[in-house]
Amino acid sequence: MSNASLSPLPSADRPDVTAGLRDALLGASFTADGLLELLGAPAYAALARSEIVPALRATRGDTPLEMLVRLFLLQQPVPHARVADVLPVDACLESGWLVRTAGDELAATVDVRPYGGPGGEDWFIVSDLGCAVGGAGGIGSRNEGVVLGVGGASTTLAGITVRTPVDSALDLGTGSGIQALHAARHATRVTATDVNPRALHITALTLALSGVPAADLREGSLFEPVGEDETYDLIVSNPPFVISPGARLTYRDGGMGGDDLCRTLVQQAGERLNEGGFAQFLANWQHVEGEDWTDRLRSWVPRGCDAWIVQREVQDVAQYAELWLRDAGDHREDAAEYQARYDAWLDEFEARKVKAVGFGWITLRRTGSAVPSVTVEEWPHPVEQPLGPAVRAHFDRIDWLRAHDDAALLEAHFLLAPEIVQEQVGLPGAEDPEHVVLRQHRGMRRATKVDTVGAGFAGVCDGTMSAGRILDAIAQLMGEDPVLLRDRTPAQIRLLVEQGFLEPAG
Ligand SMILES: C[S@@+](CC[C@H](N)C(=O)[O-])C[C@H]1O[C@@H](n2cnc3c(N)ncnc32)[C@H](O)[C@@H]1O
Repeated sequence: MSNASLSPLPSADRPDVTAGLRDALLGASFTADGLLELLGAPAYAALARSEIVPALRATRGDTPLEMLVRLFLLQQPVPHARVADVLPVDACLESGWLVRTAGDELAATVDVRPYGGPGGEDWFIVSDLGCAVGGAGGIGSRNEGVVLGVGGASTTLAGITVRTPVDSALDLGTGSGIQALHAARHATRVTATDVNPRALHITALTLALSGVPAADLREGSLFEPVGEDETYDLIVSNPPFVISPGARLTYRDGGMGGDDLCRTLVQQAGERLNEGGFAQFLANWQHVEGEDWTDRLRSWVPRGCDAWIVQREVQDVAQYAELWLRDAGDHREDAAEYQARYDAWLDEFEARKVKAVGFGWITLRRTGSAVPSVTVEEWPHPVEQPLGPAVRAHFDRIDWLRAHDDAALLEAHFLLAPEIVQEQVGLPGAEDPEHVVLRQHRGMRRATKVDTVGAGFAGVCDGTMSAGRILDAIAQLMGEDPVLLRDRTPAQIRLLVEQGFLEPAG
């Protein structure tokens, strides 16, 4: 991989300098909260869209915080004397965080973006210049080895990750180190890998500047850097999932044909997991003519693992090609060049009979069960982030359902999950609703249609009566045969449990 035209990085072997820099940044309130207060919500939000003009206007003053924002986030040169008032300037110059520019001014060599941890931690994400603020405006460099900062995909994966305390975690394709940073909160040992050595260097800087323990950094593709006998309690990866006609940008183009990189990652993760361990990925997958996309995804799930796969979005091939052409800034190029690239992308899809591309989340849990549970579903609606606790609860409920046959299910007691409401859907003025919907306000924020029995059943689930006794009472009220009702309702109860509307009591 060529990183030739990228600027040299700060030294990762000067913990004294990094600690001094961290203290100085915190001392000037160069934090996520400090930034929001200084810039105000509109300028802060504009940064996330790669627009810096509002932030430049908000930092025209002379405070240490304004100076740091201009230097590290907006890549503006700042007079040496001003920097020296706030930072250990000689140490920063010597270790490569800063360089001299024309005149008596200094510039940063990397982007440093304050990032608030979930427990209120003041962390920092280091990335290549011009790459701290993701968004539709295109990346700051088109060098193949450029290392990006935090984007929407990064925070989505961080949010859906199960955060149970674990012994070992693996962040595969670590980039700026954001997933490793989160893992450092709840994993005793964190291993971070990347095919790009520059990403490993930047991850070391991110972790050190954030004041968390160093990770075990390993260079290589997919699971290559992991020893044959090494297994983990948690594996996370926001891989280079883009399905493209050729590898150009390491951070997004996996370099394998079609969706092979995501498939390989998922298939190989099973044997790298400890019993009970989770592997969580963002992925893209092909919708191929004549093939059910859910079958394609099911075929990826490794043996011995339960899986929950959620398709969040589907784009047709033209939308997809445009999205990634714009991501690389190709739309700002010569029009003929843009059209040629677009054409090549569509040729590739045509050759593979791909008609659309799905985006989503794949979670595996190693159970070793002889009867694995694989759920593949489409849920494009907003969810409650962080979703990690709901992901964990999903797999716990799957375990519970597997351990209870229908007879045991009818003996069990259930609780209606918190914040569920019932909605009646039908024509205005009609006496009876056409159907009833149960809606969650937490977690996946699901809505599901139920019949009168399902709605009545859910309504009385306060843990006191067994499911079977509740069904007997409903049968009596409705004048139905209780044996038939006991026979036909467990499937509906199972679905309500699986989807988190009902929770087994105790
Ligand atoms: C989309 S970025 C994700 C970065 C970061 N983990 C995040 O969540 O923001 C994908 C990362 O995978 C790395 N990568 C690309 N191909 C890889 C491969 N074959 N094996 C391991 N890492 C790879 C890239 O260098 C890049 O750092």
